[in-house]
Amino acid sequence: MNSQVLDVLKMFFTLLLAAIVITVGGAPQTMLGCPRNCGNVTIPFPFGTSPDCYLDDSFIIICNNTYNPPKPFLVGGIEVFDILVNGHLKVSSWMAYDCYNDSGFRTRDVYSWLRLRNFSISATRNKFTAIGCDTYAFVKGSRDKNYTTGCTALCDGSDYVKSGSCNGVGCCEMSIPEGIRDFQLTINSYKNYTRVQKFNPCGYAIMSEEGYYSFSSADLWALQNKTRETFPVVLDWAVGGNFTCQEAQKNSSTYACRSSNSECWDSLSRRGYNCSWKKVFQGNNYLIDGCQGMNSSILLVDQNFSNC
Ligand SMILES: *[C@@H]1O[C@H](CO)[C@@H](O)[C@H](O)[C@H]1NC(C)=O
Ligand SMILES: *[C@@H]1O[C@H](CO)[C@@H](O)[C@H](O)[C@H]1NC(C)=O
Ligand SMILES: *[C@@H]1O[C@H](CO)[C@@H](O)[C@H](O)[C@H]1NC(C)=O
Ligand SMILES: *[C@@H]1O[C@H](CO)[C@@H](O)[C@H](O)[C@H]1NC(C)=O
Ligand SMILES: *[C@@H]1O[C@H](CO)[C@@H](O)[C@H](O)[C@H]1NC(C)=O
Ligand SMILES: *[C@@H]1O[C@H](CO)[C@@H](O)[C@H](O)[C@H]1NC(C)=O
Ligand SMILES: *[C@@H]1O[C@H](CO)[C@@H](O)[C@H](O)[C@H]1NC(C)=O
Ligand SMILES: *[C@@H]1O[C@H](CO)[C@@H](O)[C@H](O)[C@H]1NC(C)=O
Ligand SMILES: *[C@@H]1O[C@H](CO)[C@@H](O)[C@H](O)[C@H]1NC(C)=O
Ligand SMILES: *[C@@H]1O[C@H](CO)[C@@H](O)[C@H](O)[C@H]1NC(C)=O
Ligand SMILES: *[C@@H]1O[C@H](CO)[C@@H](O)[C@H](O)[C@H]1NC(C)=O
Repeated sequence: MNSQVLDVLKMFFTLLLAAIVITVGGAPQTMLGCPRNCGNVTIPFPFGTSPDCYLDDSFIIICNNTYNPPKPFLVGGIEVFDILVNGHLKVSSWMAYDCYNDSGFRTRDVYSWLRLRNFSISATRNKFTAIGCDTYAFVKGSRDKNYTTGCTALCDGSDYVKSGSCNGVGCCEMSIPEGIRDFQLTINSYKNYTRVQKFNPCGYAIMSEEGYYSFSSADLWALQNKTRETFPVVLDWAVGGNFTCQEAQKNSSTYACRSSNSECWDSLSRRGYNCSWKKVFQGNNYLIDGCQGMNSSILLVDQNFSNC
């Protein structure tokens, strides 16, 4: 081949590469060649649906195409609603409830649970809420040890209950401890709803993203027909397995936050860490994007990812 043909070829490939880079540019979210989304949900790196696309096995997403649109799941079958590059993801959870008939017999008793191996349940972004007028509800979970906590919601009549106000009258709420990886919600009653059954035949308990559920007095009655509704629970994710920043920084060949513009944060669950921009967050800090001429502060060093 003469050098002119070579030059033309070179130019062609440079333009091709530029085209690819422009398509991916803006906010780089996904490894080149990997699916950007599963149905409505975008799948940013370090998450992915195949070994070339995720950072390690803890970030596996299973995209189930039998749904229309397709739905993403974690290993173990937990549905994923949203994945945020700021270190959070939202997964599906359901309500716990128990119901009683006129003569005080328990007719339904359903508990709710979530168990995770590789992510913890965000203590700052979720709330536990119990709804009812003869209701005490428990959250059981484990961190290093088991723990149990809970709250009580009571009322003497529907007149005392105020929508939007979750202060123990008809509704109580609580934050949850840091770093837990599982919970189970259970409900019980003091007097089998015998005095309140006419307007409140059931107790309900919900773990959800803070601000997602807002108490309404009508729910004392109406939630009994909405038991199939799902609620988003916010999880924390972090890279680095169980290494802290300090431990990870000792090994420069695996440490993920490289540039002087990046900051390392120990995850709240005390396992793993995250990298964030010193200034306003932009793009995907975990995805290698130096080759795109972007303002990249974090490079993942793993050889698999230096493919551009
Ligand atoms: C997907 O997005 C469409 C349009 O925004 C919306 O109508 C639909 O409810 C979404 N589906 C799911 C499963 O979130
Ligand atoms: C948790 O991560 C490990 C590897 O880090 C993986 O083997 C395992 O399948 C993950 N478990 C779940 C439930 O995702
Ligand atoms: C996808 O979802 C369907 C319906 O829930 C289920 O039967 C199937 O096993 C799922 N497929 C995968 C790969 O998880
Ligand atoms: C990193 O983790 C810290 C807490 O450990 C949290 O405040 C911060 O929002 C996280 N940032 C990102 C980008 O994940
Ligand atoms: C409540 O349920 C119990 C047990 O199923 C039944 O024996 C009783 O008749 C029910 N009472 C009413 C008022 O429906
Ligand atoms: C409440 O119901 C339970 C089981 O349905 C029963 O064992 C108990 O005696 C009842 N208590 C009252 C106060 O009605
Ligand atoms: C925590 O609770 C589980 C299930 O209830 C039990 O199997 C386990 O032994 C408990 N662990 C500790 C340390 O108490
Ligand atoms: C909800 O369920 C109850 C009991 O099954 C029923 O009486 C009521 O009509 C249903 N609908 C609404 C909107 O509450
Ligand atoms: C950290 O992870 C390694 C390997 O996965 C394991 O051997 C070690 O026990 C873990 N350390 C802690 C404190 O969990
Ligand atoms: C750093 O990590 C790499 C890859 O896991 C490993 O081969 C190397 O031995 C580590 N170096 C030190 C000093 O721990
Ligand atoms: C990178 O971005 C930050 C914040 O957006 C900006 O202050 C800085 O000047 C940029 N650096 C380069 C080399 O573009």
